Amino acid sequence: MPEKQRTMLVTSALPYANGPIHLGHLVEYIQTDIWVRFQKMRGHDCVYVCADDAHGTPIMLRAQHEGIAPEALISRVADEHRADFADFLIGFDNYHSTHSEENRQLSALIYQRLRAAGHIETATITQAYDPHKQMFLPDRFIKGECPRCGAADQYGDSCEVCGATYAPTELKNPVSAVSGATPVEKQSLHYFFRLADFEDSLRAWTAGGHLQPEVSNKLGEWFKDGLRNWDISRDAPYFGFEIPSAQDKYFYVWLDAPIGYLASFKHYCERNGRDFDAYLKEGGDTELYHFIGKDIIYFHALFWPAMLEGAGLRKPDAIFAHGFLTVNGQKMSKSRGTFIKARTYLEHLNPEYLRYYFAAKLDACVGDIDLNLEDFTQRVNSDLVGKYVNIASRSANFIVKQFDGRLLGVDEFCDDADIFDAYTQGINAQTQSVAALYEAREYSQAMRKIMEFAAAINQYFDEQEPWKLAKDTARRDRLHKVCSRILHGFHQLSVLLAPVLPGITRRVARELFGLSRDFTWDDLAPKRFPTRINPFKHLAQRIDSDKVQAMIDASQEDMTRSPTTPDPSADEPIAETIGFEDFAKLDLRVARIVKAEAVDGADKLLRLTLDLGGETRNVFAGIKSAYQPADLEGKLTVMVANLAPRKMRFGVSEGMVLAAGPGGKELYILEPHAGARPGMRIK
Ligand code: 2FM
Ligand code: ZN
Repeated sequence: MPEKQRTMLVTSALPYANGPIHLGHLVEYIQTDIWVRFQKMRGHDCVYVCADDAHGTPIMLRAQHEGIAPEALISRVADEHRADFADFLIGFDNYHSTHSEENRQLSALIYQRLRAAGHIETATITQAYDPHKQMFLPDRFIKGECPRCGAADQYGDSCEVCGATYAPTELKNPVSAVSGATPVEKQSLHYFFRLADFEDSLRAWTAGGHLQPEVSNKLGEWFKDGLRNWDISRDAPYFGFEIPSAQDKYFYVWLDAPIGYLASFKHYCERNGRDFDAYLKEGGDTELYHFIGKDIIYFHALFWPAMLEGAGLRKPDAIFAHGFLTVNGQKMSKSRGTFIKARTYLEHLNPEYLRYYFAAKLDACVGDIDLNLEDFTQRVNSDLVGKYVNIASRSANFIVKQFDGRLLGVDEFCDDADIFDAYTQGINAQTQSVAALYEAREYSQAMRKIMEFAAAINQYFDEQEPWKLAKDTARRDRLHKVCSRILHGFHQLSVLLAPVLPGITRRVARELFGLSRDFTWDDLAPKRFPTRINPFKHLAQRIDSDKVQAMIDASQEDMTRSPTTPDPSADEPIAETIGFEDFAKLDLRVARIVKAEAVDGADKLLRLTLDLGGETRNVFAGIKSAYQPADLEGKLTVMVANLAPRKMRFGVSEGMVLAAGPGGKELYILEPHAGARPGMRIK
């Protein structure tokens, strides 16, 4: 029985419009895109929308810092985001912005409904205010000494040294991270959403099978803590939407961000003749799914369903949360070169390899996933190239050369009824279980099954030895059957992998099998096996580990040219605390720059020859944007002298020079005070 066609709207979280897409973001977009492609291949009416999350203080300040209007910033970043997503084959049906007319209207509508139903209240609150910038300061924009342990340079909400949490007004010697001014306290009227009004229905909804079990459990704790009013307003200056009938008050970015899902969909509906309202009414037969990261569960599993309910709109069918990405077992790090931007990856490696690797690691739980770069290289080479592509590259040309490209049908290469039944039933069972795994977002198990299937086909190839059959004219029929069967297996694998590898499998469908369309799930039926095959053309190349290293080097170079962020916290939070023993491991030395020169082929690096008082070191430093080489020669600086030598594309770097600053022209090497001599240890 054919499956009933479902009508689905699917979203991924909206990326902020002030920074580049990186591999951490891509876990989610790839996870969602695979699911959506699978649903579409199954014949469901599934629409996938997203948008840039364009509002808020960090975006406003970033634009000011760059000396441009916020609209110009978000439009530039939107272009970059769109290009990154397109190149990773993320097939959004619509990509919009929260700074859009649709979102303005929907946000006003939802707010007005909440207000009319009595779910909004106002209260005057006291907050830190920057008298110089004349703006209220969000907690992360205030720094000072921890009220508990006295640690310096802590954020306004929590101490990274002792873990204390506090109100920003409790910080000692606070300063504004925006201007350096001492904040003052100031009162203003704020608007609040009465979340507790929805406690009963949220309790029922969060326990109603719409969330992963570990997420429901977490919410249980939040219910225990009590649902507090949510502050949904911000004072001017703010980049966002003004609250209707309020003076100089703006919706907090998180109020209009999830509404941005609906706004993007509305924009799509208007352009594609779809009935937007049909998707929003309670009790309709459309389905709504949000893929998100585990850090934004509170917003999606409490605030969002409560807002929808309060506004008389349907709630999501499910929220699918995933974990964070680590690289080589650790948090992504700019200095290790593992904070890899989507664009940097694309400059070195094939996007479908990352799609495959993430699929091979992802399941339906919220655990973190690790991109181990060695395992990535090895797995792509052995699975995708060695097992999958290899099948077609070894067998297609027998059919092309010896049988003029004509493939035998399944009933022809299984010429006995029992063999036919056993073969097709076996295949059927495999493909159904893969479908169930995709549906359940258990991609890692799906990839395992698919690769087992690929291994079995390769084994069949080795056992049947078609290269020997090809030399024996008496066994031509056998050769035809064997190769048709192998290629049937390859065809099945290609259909099964299509959600993960849309580009490669599109070429398989069109170039190799000569179809004029992409694969659909129905292509798994025996009678849909194509009758012809074209000569095999190269499909995928092994990963060369030099390319992976080049990507890491480039990411390290990127670090020296990230544009300045006025909020230091947004870019590089203070690192984890280390003990004195760790600090003592660093051997910092005064060094004289005896020579500085440009490096052929590197646009950010200078090669420095450093005199350590008797020893000479060769160090590559990403400071070319800030210094003329000649200006550096003769200067004293500080280097990490006991850093393990690192092989870079241009040679070995034997240490690291210390420099401060966000990048570009704003980079300053550290210079010791007069009197210091090369080789002196800094303690
Ligand atoms: O956490 C984030 O990156 C947010 N920009 C996600 C917003 S998702 C949705 F609610 F819009
Ligand atoms: Zn502290």
